Amino acid sequence: MQTFDVAIVGTGGIAAYHAQSLAALAGRVRIVAAVDIDEDRLAEFGTRFEVPRLHRDLAELFAAGPPDIVDLCTPPGVHAQQAIACLDHGVTVVCEKPPALSLAELDRIAARTEAAGPHFATIFQHRFGSGGLALAALRREGAFGTPTTAVCDTLWYRPDEYFAASWRGRWETEGGGPTLGHGIHQMDLMLAILGPWREVVAVAARQAKPTATEDLSCAIVTFDSGAVATVVNSLVSPRQTSYLRFDFTDATVELAHLYGYDDADWTVTGAPGHEERVRALWTSRLTGVPSGHTAQFTHVLDALEAGKPPPVTPADVRLTMELVTAIYASAFTGRPVRRGEVVPGSPFYERMEGAGAPWPTVVPAPRMALA
Ligand SMILES: NC(=O)c1ccc[n+]([C@@H]2O[C@H](COP(=O)([O-])OP(=O)(O)OC[C@H]3O[C@@H](n4cnc5c(N)ncnc54)[C@H](O)[C@@H]3O)[C@@H](O)[C@H]2O)c1
Repeated sequence: MQTFDVAIVGTGGIAAYHAQSLAALAGRVRIVAAVDIDEDRLAEFGTRFEVPRLHRDLAELFAAGPPDIVDLCTPPGVHAQQAIACLDHGVTVVCEKPPALSLAELDRIAARTEAAGPHFATIFQHRFGSGGLALAALRREGAFGTPTTAVCDTLWYRPDEYFAASWRGRWETEGGGPTLGHGIHQMDLMLAILGPWREVVAVAARQAKPTATEDLSCAIVTFDSGAVATVVNSLVSPRQTSYLRFDFTDATVELAHLYGYDDADWTVTGAPGHEERVRALWTSRLTGVPSGHTAQFTHVLDALEAGKPPPVTPADVRLTMELVTAIYASAFTGRPVRRGEVVPGSPFYERMEGAGAPWPTVVPAPRMALA
């Protein structure tokens, strides 16, 4: 078995989950270095996870010896430039979502990858729980009939203080609000199961948060299969839930969770006459693997060991980024947007807000909690 050397770049909130997941895969992978521009955070992370080498930037990392994998846990605004720097050094990149701020950036990253490596993979950990993998396979097999309709709700809440982090809530550094940054997880899982989408009609609004971006979007998505889904991406919903529902001609499959799921979070209901078959088929496919970074890293390492591109590949993530882009394009132009319509030359290809959001650019002041 090969042991891959990994450097974690960005040692903030999500990096700890990465370090724990990589530690759970010890033997297959080891953390050899960490990088952050914040020296205190870097030092604390280095001590906590016993990281041998600590660097202040990628140039220092590469000068000291490039790892096999760079694991990007930095804010979205620097993903593209850092990914391209790594790929140009021949180093494979695993990057937190969203992979880039725009389709233009994603295409620039993809152009630097090679079939034999270096590779670029995006973290979408909800694809890799046993329920998500089982449903994707059952859908490919047509075991539950054809998909008719779906619901994809990311109803989350973020207090005003959350946006104090300088990169959050701004088009230039976060790239978008809950459509690009939060609901993208559930939309990606929906697309992994239902396949290519065809057309979207959407609305976006800034309801209550101190952001330049939207804090809510709602969309109706039609798939190549003819299935139609409603999608809500919200940061203004105090009772939080992440909910996915797929109706097929023979079964309804539901997933209710918040930031991650296990087998118990799925409910499957057979249509009249299909109850027993559907229940037995579903149960036979579950393997007890919860969604999460460890589940995805396991698939990433399996692929790299086999000399294959690790999941989620640039081609796979492009379908998701195209949907995100089309939601903004439809919301800000007031008309339906078809897949393939946003191409180089369109303002939405370069940035999610296109020529600008239809609300004042002034960010509302945060509502301070009363003492
Ligand atoms: N998969 C998930 O469930 C999940 C959950 C939360 C966050 N995320 C994603 O993870 C990424 C990071 O989010 P976070 O919440 O950890 O952010 P954070 O602000 O807590 O941490 C980011 C870290 O990157 C460092 N940094 C910034 N610019 C840098 C640079 N140029 N070079 C090196 N380090 C730099 C910062 O100093 C900070 O320590 C985002 O893309 C976010 O969307 C994913």
